Amino acid sequence: MFCSIIENGAQLTAWMKSHTGLYDFVKALQDIHEETDYRFYIVGGFVRDWVLGGHSMDLDIAVEGDIRKVMASLSESCELEYTYYERFKTATFILTEGTVDLVTCRSESYSFDGALPTVFSGNIEDDLARRDFSVNALAIDLCQEPWKICGLDASVSDLERKTIRVLHNRSFQEDPTRLFRAVRYKNRLGFTYEAVTLDLIHQAVEKGYLRNISADRILQELSKILKEGKSFDILEDLVALGIDKWILPDLQLPQVLKRALKNMEGLELTFIEDTESFDPVELRMLTILYYNTDRAWRFVERFRLSRRFANMIEDLTTLVDQVKSIQSSIQNAEVYHLLHKVPDEVLFVLYLCTDHMLVKNIIERYYIKLKDQKNVISGNDLKELGVSSGPQMRTLLSKVFKGLLNGEINDRTEALEYLNRYIEKD
Ligand code: CTP
Repeated sequence: MFCSIIENGAQLTAWMKSHTGLYDFVKALQDIHEETDYRFYIVGGFVRDWVLGGHSMDLDIAVEGDIRKVMASLSESCELEYTYYERFKTATFILTEGTVDLVTCRSESYSFDGALPTVFSGNIEDDLARRDFSVNALAIDLCQEPWKICGLDASVSDLERKTIRVLHNRSFQEDPTRLFRAVRYKNRLGFTYEAVTLDLIHQAVEKGYLRNISADRILQELSKILKEGKSFDILEDLVALGIDKWILPDLQLPQVLKRALKNMEGLELTFIEDTESFDPVELRMLTILYYNTDRAWRFVERFRLSRRFANMIEDLTTLVDQVKSIQSSIQNAEVYHLLHKVPDEVLFVLYLCTDHMLVKNIIERYYIKLKDQKNVISGNDLKELGVSSGPQMRTLLSKVFKGLLNGEINDRTEALEYLNRYIEKD
């Protein structure tokens, strides 16, 4: 079952050497191997992507040995900080070039279908055999020079044939989140499902295995999907397979949503500052919900999303309704009052998705001319004019502010003249 298949160690060593933080880390592991006979293997996505000609900067390294001793030794020799997760016996190291997860080689068992697995120490063969798909069941043995890529029999042929194949028939039953993973890999890598795997996907959907998975875990899978370049195609596949109901029943995916998700990539709205600080997953969720506003609340409730996100949904749905009736004669002050409490993310999504030019125009107008407008008079100015605190003062302050937004008042002198006239008249 376990075989040496590809020998391109020299290329891999050269790549590693050009990433010194990573290379020093691997050298330190090799020193530990010399002392203890523990073995270390790069596994999972890095190896798959390497064979396909890509480079992921996040490495999973499987350890045949006592991971706690490895961590102690590494933190001494490389002075690296790490976080250890006892439940899964894994440790995460942050290097300058990326993240390395040390994972104890293990076999897994599931106390019930859909449960998080119980893990038992094992060797690299057990560790590859417990994985989701053959193309992820590959390893690079770091303790044997030149480095070789090893895997299960089907791993490399499936990579060559661009095929997604589960390693055993109970794979989706035990871990139904793999349904999302299969669709994600298919679209990201441009692969197809092997026939039995596709049958198992259909059976898993029919039997509703995803009902055993918590909303939190489904949300994690959705977040991973929304980080993918082909997120729309993935969602379309989920609909075609009938998996979308676990995200939002009857998910609407019009082609304009595809365009919106694509346009979002390079969209720089120079008039909105700081768009880089937006959370890309949140933006994509908002964009999807723009086209599913009638059921947006179900989504928020199902995934128990934060109050902040729920407020954004409320703002978005309200605004989508309000802008339906705006007229081209809308004045600046009305634009300001419509938009000034709405978070930037919501306005970004509305600008991106609306095909109503007037709506785009007022959002631009708001950012360029209105957002930073400040009042030029204060309550103290009004007190000096004999106005006491209370409703009249508030009315006068807002009348001046409205005049400033609408360009009827241009500065403080004009504001004071306006107030004097107004008070005299009264
Ligand atoms: N894995 C699994 N079943 C899961 C999740 C993960 O078997 N439900 C295994 C896969 O072998 C995978 C590895 O754990 O390669 C690491 O998981 P993850 O980091 O999610 O996947 P990668 O393939 O490394 O990364 P990506 O999906 O981003 O390419």
